[in-house]
Parts: sequence; C-alpha cells; structure tokens
Amino acid sequence: MELIPADRFSFRQLTEAYNQTRVDYLVPMPMNEARLREYVYAYDVALAASCVAMRHKTTLGLGMLGLRPQRGWVTRLGVLPSGRRQGIGQTILEALLDAAARHQCREVWLEVIKGNEPAYQLFSKFGFTETRELIVARRAPGTEARRMVDMGVRRVTNLNHEEALILLAQRRERPNWLNEIETMSNLRNLSALLVEMNNGGRGWVTYHAGLLQLTRIVVEVVAGDPAEVTATVLNVLHRLYKRQDAIVENIFEDALWSGYQAAGYFDAFHRIEMMLTL
Ligand SMILES: CC(C)(COP(=O)(O)OP(=O)(O)OC[C@H]1O[C@@H](n2cnc3c(N)ncnc32)[C@H](O)[C@@H]1OP(=O)(O)O)[C@@H](O)C(=O)NCCC(=O)NCCS
Repeated sequence: MELIPADRFSFRQLTEAYNQTRVDYLVPMPMNEARLREYVYAYDVALAASCVAMRHKTTLGLGMLGLRPQRGWVTRLGVLPSGRRQGIGQTILEALLDAAARHQCREVWLEVIKGNEPAYQLFSKFGFTETRELIVARRAPGTEARRMVDMGVRRVTNLNHEEALILLAQRRERPNWLNEIETMSNLRNLSALLVEMNNGGRGWVTYHAGLLQLTRIVVEVVAGDPAEVTATVLNVLHRLYKRQDAIVENIFEDALWSGYQAAGYFDAFHRIEMMLTL
C-alpha cells in the first residue's frame, strides 16, 4: 500500500474516493466536487498534508488534515468497506499525525459522530480523548415564528459581513473548528442581527442565508435569560427567512439549546469532539 499526498489528485477524484468510503455511513453525507472545494477552503484543509491510500492503482481510503497555527484537525478519514480492519485506517491516521507534527502542531482535534464505534475506538487507540459532546440540529421551514410585538422585541439591527465577524470574534465559549473565527473568516456573505428586547434581553445571531437554507448560525446572548433571548433572536431570524430550512452545527447542550428547541430546532445527531496533545 502506498500513501500519496492528496494534492496529487483532482477534486473529482477526491470526491469519488470520499463518497466510496461513506457508502455505509451512519449519517449519509455525500459530497460533490464543488462542496469538497468549499470544505477544503473553509476549514483550511492542507491537501499536501492529507493523503490517499492506494494499492495497485486502486483507492483504499483517504484522510485529510486541517492546519491552523499550532493546531491540526483530522477530517474525511475513511476506508472503503472492502478494505476495513486491515490496518489501513490506522496507517492513514499515523500519516496525518506525522504531518501535523511536521507542521509544529501542538494539538490535533477531530469530531466523530456519536455511535461511530470503529472510528471512536481508532481515535482512542491513538490517545485522543473526549473534550465535548456537540449537537447538530435542524429546523424545518415554515414553522410558525411569533410576531415581533408578541416576542417583546424593541429593536432589530441588521449587520453586514464585517460586523458579523467582529461579533464572532467576541464569543465567550470556545468554538469548535467548524465554527471558530478562522472558519468564519474564510466565508463570504455572512450576516447578523442584533436583537434588543423590552425586558433588557439582548443577543445576536450570525448566519449565511442561502436560497433554500440558513447555515453558519451562531447565537450569543449578551444580556437576559439565555433560553428566552436565544429563542427570540432565532424567531426574529426565521420571520425574515420563512422559506429556508436551517441547520446549526456543533452547539452545546446548555441553556441556549433550550432556546433553539423553543424556536423549532430538533436534534439531528451528536458529535463527540476529541483532542490529542502532540
Ligand atoms: C473508522 C475507519 C476509518 C477505520 O478504518 P480501518 O482501516 O477499518 O481500521 P484499522 O483496521 O486500521 O483499525 C485500527 C483500529 O481501529 C479500531 N477499529 C477499527 N474498526 C473497528 C470496529 N469495527 N470495531 C471496533 N474497533 C474498530 C480498533 O481500535 C483498531 O485497532 P485494533 O485492530 O488493534 O483493534 C473505517 O471503519 C471507516 O472508514 N469507517 C467509515 C468512515 C468513518 O467512520 N470515518 C471516520 C469519521 S470520524
């Protein structure tokens, strides 16, 4: 078996390889070429530090490494079903960890879907330990959002991309790789709403509004009851974007989560965030 740097492959080849490793995946997430390109760009995936495992010109698996100052992120790791349990996943992971060490990473992070026992065992074997459990939640479009007056909203301010980034840089909780400021700074066309309530509650939401879907949703409560302000901020957002469904990734099970639920979000699946100190 040979490990070949992923930058020697086209995005089409990488997409095909990735999809083949995920045919039986816990949560179906097929990629297309455009989405993989976006993914690599948004999450600072270094293709030269990522690899594809091949034997006799046949792809066996692949793994990718995101690189940010002193930190690495293992992602897209997968082995074709026919090649599993022969040490290929482990060999790819070793190569990614070597690459992280060569790039002076002090920590390597990753997320694994809760219930993905083979992957969880593999990462545990290499010394990764759990840091947090994260929720991926969705909301269907058209779910009735309450009227502004009934929500006790005093003022809503629309903010642009640059202003959204300023808000995101001030978050109190440590964000996850997928929604931390480095990711957000790689995106275009973020928006934000700053919501002030009659009772002194104040909060904001940043988001990316696509034609059919709202993504990159991050809520922060500045003042007031966390669940109430979160629900209000989200209800304001969904009154503005009635047609779009919404996805929020990698949030925590805290007081804000009850606000998400009150605004119509439901739990889609959980991820376990893990970390290894090099
Ligand atoms: C997770 C995955 C990459 C493992 O690849 P693999 O080549 O089968 O794994 P390896 O043969 O190198 O096994 C290495 C270690 O992983 C763990 N492991 C792998 N498969 C396992 C299974 N079915 N059950 C329990 N542990 C397992 C074991 O700790 C194993 O070490 P051991 O052989 O000493 O027991 C593979 O199952 C896969 O591609 N799954 C679908 C995609 C996926 O889940 N990717 C990870 C996303 S976070």
